[in-house]
Amino acid sequence: MKVPKRLQPLVDDGMIDEVMAQLMSGKEAQVYVVRCGDDLRCAKVFKEARQRSFKQAVQYQEGRNMRNSRRARAMSKKTRYGQKEQEQAWVSAEVDALYRLASAGVRVPEPYGFVDGVLLMELVADEEGYAAPRLDDVTLSAEQARDYHAQVMADVVRMLCAGLVHGDLSEFNVLLDRDGPVIIDLPQAVDAAGNNNAAMMLQRDVDNMRNYFGRFAPELLATDYGREIWALYEAGELHPESTLTGVFEHDTTSVDVTDLMEVIDDVRAEEAERLAPVWEE
Ligand SMILES: Nc1ncnc2c1ncn2[C@@H]1O[C@H](COP(=O)(O)OP(=O)(O)O)[C@@H](O)[C@H]1O
Ligand SMILES: [Mg+2]
Repeated sequence: MKVPKRLQPLVDDGMIDEVMAQLMSGKEAQVYVVRCGDDLRCAKVFKEARQRSFKQAVQYQEGRNMRNSRRARAMSKKTRYGQKEQEQAWVSAEVDALYRLASAGVRVPEPYGFVDGVLLMELVADEEGYAAPRLDDVTLSAEQARDYHAQVMADVVRMLCAGLVHGDLSEFNVLLDRDGPVIIDLPQAVDAAGNNNAAMMLQRDVDNMRNYFGRFAPELLATDYGREIWALYEAGELHPESTLTGVFEHDTTSVDVTDLMEVIDDVRAEEAERLAPVWEE
């Protein structure tokens, strides 16, 4: 295909040999499959700052390490310089997060560099080498759903141990390759320790995953991994290998299994009702 304007500098520099296709674009970026030598890679071109919600970005950036106060001051103003700085901080947050998470053992695309506002990374691919589907594109068996849910929870734990909360985790931002889920789209990743919204965002991320996988394995709908994970994190007891139960204990008495089974049955019944066809009277 014709080389998009924003990718031309990378083609000129020899970092990209050919632009193969454009993937479905989300809200923040255009994503292309590109060829670099013999490898297919993914190039994510971020939209200009003014096309995004400025206010929302500020909420996510709380607690991020601003390299100098001039930059922090500029970012708090809606000057053109401020927006430019905001743009760069936003985009480099995704690059930083990818490197940090890859080394923490979280399944994310391998980053290959960041040039002129373009993030070059591994193309997460399906068996045929095409761009992998998003969770939203697939139908799972109950067993697969339980397995992938557990893998994503383990990645959420590793991510939090590395100091980050995704902040926009959903079936649109998890791809599925032959080895399972791969988490993408991290420009909004929040600093777990320094951001007051971190607990809320972790809970929302985990709930999104529960609700998605719960469509295929309804017993997951009765779990509460979000509060369990955050409680362990706050107590300084969360480790990359922590085993989770999915049950958040509000007090110290042990869980009543009969009660729990009743909750699970209720949720199952509700889900069955939700899925049952509705007949017009
Ligand atoms: N590394 C990757 N490998 C394969 N496909 C990708 C990759 N990164 C992004 N995509 C595809 O591009 C879409 C948009 O990318 P994403 O990072 O989610 O940006 P945004 O949603 O902010 O536009 C994703 O839903 C996914 O289908
Ligand atoms: Mg996305």
